[in-house]
Amino acid sequence: MIVLGIETSCDETGAAVYAAGRGLLAEAVASQTAVHAPFGGIVPELASRDHIAKLAPMLGHVLREAGTDVGELSHVAYTAGPGLVGALMVGASMAESLALALDVPAIGVHHMEGHLLAPMLETPAPGFPFLALLVSGGHSLLVHVEGLGRYSIVGRTLDDAVGEAFDKVARLLELAYPGGPALAALAEHGSAERFALPRPLADRGLNLSFSGLKTAVRLVVEAERASGRLDERTRADIAASFEAAAVDTLVIKCVRALAETGLDRLVVAGGVGANRRLRERLGALAHERGFALHFPRPALCTDNGAMIAYAGACRARAGRAGDARILARPRWSLEELEPPR
Ligand code: KG4
Ligand code: ZN
Repeated sequence: MIVLGIETSCDETGAAVYAAGRGLLAEAVASQTAVHAPFGGIVPELASRDHIAKLAPMLGHVLREAGTDVGELSHVAYTAGPGLVGALMVGASMAESLALALDVPAIGVHHMEGHLLAPMLETPAPGFPFLALLVSGGHSLLVHVEGLGRYSIVGRTLDDAVGEAFDKVARLLELAYPGGPALAALAEHGSAERFALPRPLADRGLNLSFSGLKTAVRLVVEAERASGRLDERTRADIAASFEAAAVDTLVIKCVRALAETGLDRLVVAGGVGANRRLRERLGALAHERGFALHFPRPALCTDNGAMIAYAGACRARAGRAGDARILARPRWSLEELEPPR
């Protein structure tokens, strides 16, 4: 089985070739940062156009690098949602047409299932069951994962996703788009103790909330600016204090969710999984409390084609054939997925 994976749900074009038994043969990701930076955020129409320009050459490139002839592909997997509908349509129509021409099944993959399974590309791969912390720009979920397609969401954000909060706070601090990684970089030079910020809903439940924290940061920024103290040092201290509050909140919820579900394995995935402070805090805690922790390498945390190729291979192995229709679902809950029959 050799699966070509295509990811175009948002602002990264990704492609990869995954072979069962051999692993990842080739992968490539092209970021659209430069396209959207002048606008301070993602412009959906520009995202679609850039995917159109980049995708076909990228497919040729990964196939060459993998040493795979297009005729050897057994499946073409693509992100069918959730995401920006125009962007999704680029990958979906390319994948479905290619599959039709090659007479192989096309597999529409749920983007978050891709993130969820990405840690399994690492060695050692986590075994089922596990608790997943899925933290990206659009989602913040705690998922009880019993097997492929057997997902129960035990905690979710009531407002902003944590990646979105990183991006919004970055904007408050006038950092260039994309904000999350820039904010994390600035936080490295700051003191997390300088500003006391809330750890929202820390005392109860598994749901998350980040809009109050974002407002608290905005008030600090405004107060510091009004008093003429918003210099580099202060901006770094605000970034560090925010990052500490967001990471603490995630850590508290993970610990509670492990206790409540009785699971002893935590898998972290999604773009915010690339955050160094989160990785260090959870790493120390896993050591102290004796739970297993799986973090994919940062490049497998952010959007990529490898996770889509891999999720497609898992679905194909479980016997799921192609639907022979173009799937692009901007909104799609992970809990609507079904285990293979
Ligand atoms: O999974 P992803 O690449 O795309 C989505 O599916 O959303 O996640 C992107 C999100 C963005 O909000 C970005 O700011 C955040 O992940 N992010 C980070 C870091 N790297 C990416 N947030 C905090 N620290 C990082 N190092
Ligand atoms: Zn993503």
